Amino acid sequence: MDVKDFWYVVAESRDLKKDQVLARKVMGEWLAVFRDENGKVVVMQDRCKHRAAQLSRGKVCHGKLECPYHGWVYGKEGHVVAVPSEGDNFKQTATRKGHTYITCEVDDYIYVCLAESGTTEEKPFVMRHYKEKGWKTIRLVNHFDNNVTNCVENFIDIPHTVYVHPGIFRNPRKQKIDVDVQRINGAVKASYLNETDNFGWFSKALNPNGGNIQHSDEFFMPNVSCVEYIFGPKRHFIITSQCIPLENDETLVYTDLTYNYGIWNTLAAPIIRRQGQAIIDQDIDALANQMKVIKKYGDDFSNTSNDVIHVWVESIQKELEKGQDPRLLPERNKRTTMLV
Ligand code: FES
Ligand SMILES: [Fe+2]
Repeated sequence: MDVKDFWYVVAESRDLKKDQVLARKVMGEWLAVFRDENGKVVVMQDRCKHRAAQLSRGKVCHGKLECPYHGWVYGKEGHVVAVPSEGDNFKQTATRKGHTYITCEVDDYIYVCLAESGTTEEKPFVMRHYKEKGWKTIRLVNHFDNNVTNCVENFIDIPHTVYVHPGIFRNPRKQKIDVDVQRINGAVKASYLNETDNFGWFSKALNPNGGNIQHSDEFFMPNVSCVEYIFGPKRHFIITSQCIPLENDETLVYTDLTYNYGIWNTLAAPIIRRQGQAIIDQDIDALANQMKVIKKYGDDFSNTSNDVIHVWVESIQKELEKGQDPRLLPERNKRTTMLV
């Protein structure tokens, strides 16, 4: 097993128009992304086979990508379908072909898988309740100067919220919360048992009646976190973050804020977008600072019993780094108590 066996978002579907090419990066790999004449996405290594020009600087005409240097033309599956200097003598061959990667389009995201074999048994993460009746999704994209593991740990970390997001997300008040944490099948799930409303300013939008809260935080290998709050029958809020490794210290995060507030869905949208982005901006700053210190002093972390969520996320990521399948790790369960 390898991190390259998984699917990574390279663009939102709406961002890739007909006859357009996008330059993207995943795990240090440069990619040119375009649609063929049938609208199907093609993802190629961003390098012309001829003299290594960057294909994403070229143009797309009728679903074919033309290199900006000498005009070689690439069709679906990356085959060279024309070489202008050869004119009528040009013959298409199976071997004259740019390097392509497998791709798919699900939930209005375009995914790529960098597996060298060109196949994978993994599936893209299914975005919960996306486009279901009664549900609304706001999509945000943000760049973090940190790695995927530290990003996902931040997204499912309660104790930082009172320090990094005071007033917006949570106020410090030393509330005792029991947490059941489980590591199973390459995932970690934390279920919070007796949480009551403590959402600062944000609670006006999230939980106006101050009702009881069901809350869980989940991590799915290798790069997805899912935070779910249920405040009542018509108050359900899910934050799904897909963390795309650009480089070892750079992550692009696609965040779906998906919610069901009944008749308030449309009215709530601008508030949720603004507050969501404000919270993410604070995390971007905290995570950039963390990486700055890691680069100077390394990442020798210390843990409390409350860090079990992080420790188990890291145990999964370490297995992947070793090329092992984290699903084979033994199932673990632990109850812990947090003061927040
Ligand atoms: S480098 Fe692309 S056609 Fe020459
Ligand atoms: Fe945060």
